[in-house]
Amino acid sequence: MVFLNNRLVHEKRAMVSVFDHGFLYGDGIYETLRVYNGVAFMVDEHIERLHRSASMISLRIPLTHAKIRKAVYKTIRANGLDDAVVRISVSRGEGSIGLDPELCPEPTFVIIAYPFTGHPRINYERGVKLAIVETRRNYRRAIDPRIKSLNFLNNILAKIEAKKRGAFEAIMLNHRGYIAEGTISNIFFIKNKTLFTPAVDVGILDGITRGLIINMAREKGIEVIEGRFRPEELYSAEEIFISSTTMELMPVTMIDDIRIGTKPGRITRILHRAYKEKVEEYVQGF
Ligand code: PDD
Repeated sequence: MVFLNNRLVHEKRAMVSVFDHGFLYGDGIYETLRVYNGVAFMVDEHIERLHRSASMISLRIPLTHAKIRKAVYKTIRANGLDDAVVRISVSRGEGSIGLDPELCPEPTFVIIAYPFTGHPRINYERGVKLAIVETRRNYRRAIDPRIKSLNFLNNILAKIEAKKRGAFEAIMLNHRGYIAEGTISNIFFIKNKTLFTPAVDVGILDGITRGLIINMAREKGIEVIEGRFRPEELYSAEEIFISSTTMELMPVTMIDDIRIGTKPGRITRILHRAYKEKVEEYVQGF
């Protein structure tokens, strides 16, 4: 069952118009959430970011925070899911052809929930490969990557390059050549017991997982530096990992053709364990 504009409909009948500006122009925003044991992890943070993305593109979401939360749970339950992924998408809506948002009186609001199948265990045991790609991350003053936009071409072009190079994930640099982020993930690296990650003003999505990792690391007395870093920094890192809602922390052991260890590093393992504990606490406290 899919939640479409205020009601649950069967997947086969969950249709959106070919005049929807999400389809015509990629005009809209979205969020991805992870559900553990029937509990939507950090649902409020995701709904807040959805509203922030909406306001950054002058889109009015027809549902309040509380109503969206309710709809998320309604969709999870209607599909009988425990471990799942939820995608909330909001497009500008149906309207005649043309760029003016006023052509679309009503946004299209969709929630899809599907079982979480996970990533291969070997990725967590051995670490994955990244490729630093040619495609640059969108310039912040053109399309701010803090907008979690339905228009994903920037990331898709990077993904195509990464696949060609046999890498699990791409790392994009910003327009000035500083490390930005992956196609669906943020990046961290460790040197001399310090955790480094690109600052939000480099032009990245301020990942919810990223935020949690930074807080957890500081709680554990690990120094965290958010800043501007050149790709060479990664080549000489002691540990690297990427983060996202669905991957949590994914260790990286290869970047381009340079090997960074053969298994997940110590700090990566400590932080991933702490992340799982946070999830557990959240689920228990629900
Ligand atoms: N991706 N950077 C980009 C470009 C992303 O698309 C994502 C999320 C992240 C990590 O953010 P978070 O920790 O809030 O999930 C960083 C989700 C998983 C997706 O595209 O489905």
